[in-house]
Amino acid sequence: MKHTLPPLPYAYNALEPYIDAQTMELHHTKHHQTYVDKLNAALEKYPDLVGRPIEELLLDIKNLKVDEPDRTAIKNHGGGHFNHSLFWKYLDPSNQQDAMIEKEITNTFGSVEEFKKQFNDSALKVFGSGWTWLVRDDQTSKLKIQNLPQQDAPIMMGLTPILGLDVWEHAYYLKYQNRRAEYIKAFWKVLKII
Ligand SMILES: [Fe+2]
Repeated sequence: MKHTLPPLPYAYNALEPYIDAQTMELHHTKHHQTYVDKLNAALEKYPDLVGRPIEELLLDIKNLKVDEPDRTAIKNHGGGHFNHSLFWKYLDPSNQQDAMIEKEITNTFGSVEEFKKQFNDSALKVFGSGWTWLVRDDQTSKLKIQNLPQQDAPIMMGLTPILGLDVWEHAYYLKYQNRRAEYIKAFWKVLKII
C-alpha cells in the first residue's frame, strides 16, 4: 500500500477570504501531493517498509535500514506528508472550540492572547521555510511553542503536535506575497479550535 494524499475534508474556497481557494488547491494538490509522491519513490526499494504508517516511519527514522539519501528523503517528504495532513485538519472550518486546550493554554501562557502573541512572534522568526508548532513535550507533558525547520515533524523529537502553522512561502505567497504577518492574522481568523 502506497501513501496517498488525504482528501481535503472541506472545499478549497471554504477559508475565503482569509486563505484563498487557489492557494488551498495548489497547496493540497501540488505541494502535498509532491511530498506523497516523493515519499513513495524513496520507499520503492524497501518492500519491508511499504505499508508502514508514516508516523511509524518518522518515529523510527534513525533506525530504518535504508541508504542515507533515502533516509533524508523519507524524513523530508514523509515529514511534509505528515505535517500537511495535520494542517488541513487544524484549518477545518467545522472544528469546534476546544475548551480543554484553551484551559491548558491559559494555565501555561497566562492567557490565550498571550499565547497567540508568543506564537505569532515565533512564526515571524522562522527563517526560510519551516513551521511554528504548539506541542506537548512528551517528557514534561507541558505545552510549548516550537519552531521547526523545513518539514521536520514534531514527533521525531518527542513532541506531540497540537497545532501547527505552515510558514513556507508556498502557504501564503499568492495572496500575501512577503507579508507573513498578515497571513498569520488570517490563520487565527479561520482557526476554530482556539
Ligand atoms: Fe505547505
